[in-house]
Amino acid sequence: MSSPTFKPVSVRAGVNIALIKYWGKAKDQENLPAVGSISMTLRDLFTQTRISVSPDDSDHFELNGIPTRDPRVFKLLDQVRTRAGIDQPMQVVSQNFVPTASGLASSASGSAALVTAAWKFLTDRDEWTEVIDIVRKGSGSAPRSLLGGLVELDKARGEIRQLSPPEAWPLSMVVAQLSEGAKATSSRHGMAHTRATSIYYDAWVQAHPYDLARAREAIERQDLEQLGTVMESSTMRMHACMLGARPPLIYWNARTLQVIELVHTLRKSGVGAWYTMDAGPHVKILCLPDDAHDIRHAIDASGVSLKTTIDSMGDGVCVQ
Ligand code: PMV
Repeated sequence: MSSPTFKPVSVRAGVNIALIKYWGKAKDQENLPAVGSISMTLRDLFTQTRISVSPDDSDHFELNGIPTRDPRVFKLLDQVRTRAGIDQPMQVVSQNFVPTASGLASSASGSAALVTAAWKFLTDRDEWTEVIDIVRKGSGSAPRSLLGGLVELDKARGEIRQLSPPEAWPLSMVVAQLSEGAKATSSRHGMAHTRATSIYYDAWVQAHPYDLARAREAIERQDLEQLGTVMESSTMRMHACMLGARPPLIYWNARTLQVIELVHTLRKSGVGAWYTMDAGPHVKILCLPDDAHDIRHAIDASGVSLKTTIDSMGDGVCVQ
């Protein structure tokens, strides 16, 4: 019997930004979230990953042109091989068009692109339940990057569904990058620490379904003010939960508060702008495409942002 021939596969996956946050893992479950979440997939911040046959009998991984021995990547490749039942070493070349590990969700787009590419490369099959299951192990929020537009990740079984495609209600996100380099505490450690020590953790989990319901309703009605309001509340509750940990966990810097204040000022002057922050200091501002340039201009004029970009809603993973 002849051995199978493998064709190189290239996959692009957009970064996703949570509007309703996930923070905390379910107990005794394989990286399943303790709460559901709703996100927006972006178009211009993304990871591109190409997989081909390894030149020897081990896996190789190159990130942004640098050979890297990242055990998380090799573990994911092992899981894809086990599920596919095919023992083929792979060569992985990845490019992050987003700062790596800085709280701008590069691990989500990275895991989504890697697992989709490896699965397609080995099996040439479109089996999304298999892919979702493995992707989730790389990063709890990564399954959301598989779909475009506004996406909900269900906590119970880790399933994803699209709430609104990009063309149905195009929204923009202004991304203010407020630091350089990687974050000090990974979200995995931060979540475990918060769950173990924060007196606010149970309250966060209990109140969460209400935020999800308000956001779903806002998306259904295309009500940006309601969506923005519940989004701000979700990010503040998540960070409050971290502040209640011992020792407290703070991902922000002084610039984060300056941008929040700027968003408040913009809103008072009639601009529809709402902020959200993840496990990093950067602020992402949700708005209508027509307002995005004015918001970026205001941030740049304040001098607090190292780099400000405007992004729009992107599609789900794209296999080339
Ligand atoms: O999927 P992880 O482990 O990178 O965690 C993501 C956590 C947040 O970005 C803070 C929130 C979210 O839902 O994306």
